[in-house]
Amino acid sequence: MKLTEQETRMLNGEEGHAVRKSMEILIALGDIYGAEKLIGVGSVQVAGVSYHNLGDAGLEFLNELSKDGKVRVLTTLNPAGMDLENWKQLGISPDFAEKQNLVIDAFRRMGIITSCTCTPYLIGNLPRYGEHIAWSESSAVTFANSVIGAKTNREGGPSALAAAFVGKTPCYGLHLKENRVPNIHVQVDATLKKLSDWGALGYCIGKKAENKIPYITGIHDADLDELKSFCASVVTYGSKPLFYIQGITPAAELHSPPGEGVTIEETDLKDAYEEINDEAEDIDLVCIGCPHCSIKEIAEIATLIEGKKVSANTEFWVACARTTKQLADQRGYTMIIERAGGKFACDTCMAVAPLKGRFKSLATTSAKGCFYSRQNNMATKMGSVEECIEAAVTGKWS
Ligand code: F3S
Repeated sequence: MKLTEQETRMLNGEEGHAVRKSMEILIALGDIYGAEKLIGVGSVQVAGVSYHNLGDAGLEFLNELSKDGKVRVLTTLNPAGMDLENWKQLGISPDFAEKQNLVIDAFRRMGIITSCTCTPYLIGNLPRYGEHIAWSESSAVTFANSVIGAKTNREGGPSALAAAFVGKTPCYGLHLKENRVPNIHVQVDATLKKLSDWGALGYCIGKKAENKIPYITGIHDADLDELKSFCASVVTYGSKPLFYIQGITPAAELHSPPGEGVTIEETDLKDAYEEINDEAEDIDLVCIGCPHCSIKEIAEIATLIEGKKVSANTEFWVACARTTKQLADQRGYTMIIERAGGKFACDTCMAVAPLKGRFKSLATTSAKGCFYSRQNNMATKMGSVEECIEAAVTGKWS
């Protein structure tokens, strides 16, 4: 990879230990993927924040980098292993909380904005169309590439952090125009009626696209929440973190449908629900907010749960960015949800919190949430917001 004079100085350690380490990571990546140069990035989103996944070795790595590492661009974090304020209320142990706080302290010393969310685009880390960025979280990467039209590969935690310290990333993969061309046409001949249908659609397309870039036709309307749900699902179940929806996503008009094609019908969606939903009647955790809830979703939850009571056998979590909850506080939604027995899970999510062994069954609106909760040994149920709230209130899936 061709380096500029400044990049060579960085590699030689003239700008400190963290920058030198970062250059080594970026150059190794660039060599593996055949990048010719580094390109500047407008923002970074770092995954690998939960102490549950990092462990002591990860914490030590971060502490080492934080001695002289300072980010050069706007950098935010993916969800942590707990709500940074209300961890006790969510049943997190003091030992875990202590370690998680040390992780966050290390990121803070690096100059990172410690908002922990997979929807950074809802809280101010909003890239421009065509901007190069280095983001990690798969649903956010897919949203940035497809819905915003920014350009990012799916970074690992260390490579994202390296990009933040250097302000650059190797120019390969989805940073290059030629790698952003759709190569599978997906015609959707099914009606999407509720939010979870977008998760089911993502499941179907992810499976059929098999690491290709889908060009989707047959969808005539989509709001932000539906697109973010689809982004999370389609990349979890198989496609590249980039898609085009004709007439909806920004760069779709630059392409035409590829020759190779598949069709998604009502029966495919029905099959997706059958695959995602396990046998389970009793529900002990209901979680909405994968990806993290928007204020509009929280408003809907508040409207549906007002005057009801969460079952004594069930926990009901609303996962969102802390900033979004602050907005919910101001608008009175928090009070309604908490009065009903619901809990806010800010800064965290059901996939990265240490939940294994605590819950047997999950109800959610999210196909991605089901995928990861199965890895936590939970039986999963996916349905509409109404069905999830019904499960929270009755403790049953009906
Ligand atoms: Fe976000 Fe966690 Fe879902 S990171 S997309 S809430 S699995």
